[in-house]
Amino acid sequence: MKRIDQQKQVDVASPERRKILGFAVAAINLALISAIIGPVIGFVTSPMRRKKKGQWVSILDENLLAKGEVQEVNFSLRIKDGYQVVDRKYTLYLSRSQEGVVCIDPACTHLGCRVRFQSDKHRFVCPCHGGVFSEDGKVVSGPPPKPLERHKVKVESGKIWIYKET
Ligand code: FES
Repeated sequence: MKRIDQQKQVDVASPERRKILGFAVAAINLALISAIIGPVIGFVTSPMRRKKKGQWVSILDENLLAKGEVQEVNFSLRIKDGYQVVDRKYTLYLSRSQEGVVCIDPACTHLGCRVRFQSDKHRFVCPCHGGVFSEDGKVVSGPPPKPLERHKVKVESGKIWIYKET
């Protein structure tokens, strides 16, 4: 008789206790999973969350760029790429016109092929789909939707500096 009463008490209390235990187990599991996965996700996505940085880079002596000339300039920068530090090579075009020194990025605005300057035609020509740009980077013909990108330029201490985002 006594044994039946004890069993009744357990049956009545059991659903509530199970519910509390279930919440406790779920909370502990959630804390464990967060403690393991959180840092891993943070580590893997850190390069994507990194803000783009820029810097002023001296790329040419001012007196080496004549008025009306368009000159291809190659230089390299040491940058952090993901988890590595690498020396990345860049090519830009500098020209000196009435508006001052202009720096044009050779990446075609259609699909990103590298345009080449043809000095006899005074045009930038894209080898991929025949896009043509004027000396100051405006679209002349072909599929490119917008002008070539320009970089900020300053002339200081006898040098031409460009602002390069990395
Ligand atoms: S990538 Fe230059 S025209 Fe298509």
